[in-house]
Amino acid sequence: MPLAERPIGVFDSGIGGLSVLRALRAELPHERFVYLADSGHAPYGERDARFVAQRTHAITAYLRAQHHIKALVVACNTATAAAIHEVRSSHPDLPLVGVEPALKPAVQQSQTKRIGVIGTRGTLGSEKFRALHASLAGQVEFILQACDGLAHAIERSTEQALHGSAETPEVRALCARYISAMGQFGNEAGQIDTLVLGCTHYVFALPTLRALVGPQVQIIDTGDPVARQTRRLLAQVATLAPEFLPGDAGAVQLLTTGALAPLQAAAQRWLQLPAQQCERIALP
Ligand code: DGL
Repeated sequence: MPLAERPIGVFDSGIGGLSVLRALRAELPHERFVYLADSGHAPYGERDARFVAQRTHAITAYLRAQHHIKALVVACNTATAAAIHEVRSSHPDLPLVGVEPALKPAVQQSQTKRIGVIGTRGTLGSEKFRALHASLAGQVEFILQACDGLAHAIERSTEQALHGSAETPEVRALCARYISAMGQFGNEAGQIDTLVLGCTHYVFALPTLRALVGPQVQIIDTGDPVARQTRRLLAQVATLAPEFLPGDAGAVQLLTTGALAPLQAAAQRWLQLPAQQCERIALP
């Protein structure tokens, strides 16, 4: 198959990366995608970086060998922090896009110069994040909050999502605990006026987070910029899918290393994709 017509690989520890896939499909409607949820090994956020890096290598190799992907989007902040440099050096020919907490856009947008950042322990404790944080810390004050258990709770809430609200009491309680630990939110001096979502799962708790921080606070996630960056990268290497791809333009294949039902529910709820597009795979 010509390179331009091959799928783009997207992966996350679980269903969180579907928030990035949603943005990718809107930005690149002619592309094919293969999404891998490593739910059998989730959550990544509280595991050690070596483990997350090993999973990232195994998934990259699998998506290349079995699905002949033309590019890879690491739709997981924790995996990007743990392994993107290594993947880049072991796959120099593979266009690669990672996600990281959007601190730079937050610095530009914040008026009060107090910015809240929520993410996993793995992301916020990583060398990569520390370097980014240190490069901007003089200009504003960042309030960092590792949200142990929140990605996992969102993962578990997906089946309920199909029948109504995605936000179980557990998700609401964790969000409330972590947001209140960060201090006062609002747009007055001394208050946190910008909240950065440093984990792709948290996008699916947006209504709860919005209710907790109030209407004036800007909430920043990375789906759209990552999708635009993917388009730029594919254009640079001239592998954007042709506008009228023969056959199944825009087709999405969804794979999981864990239980099928949560991925099916999440894909149906958030991307309006039918359950038949989901498949369980073994990937040790
Ligand atoms: N969605 C992932 C992230 O963006 C990780 C969640 C987890 O597995 O802990 O960091």
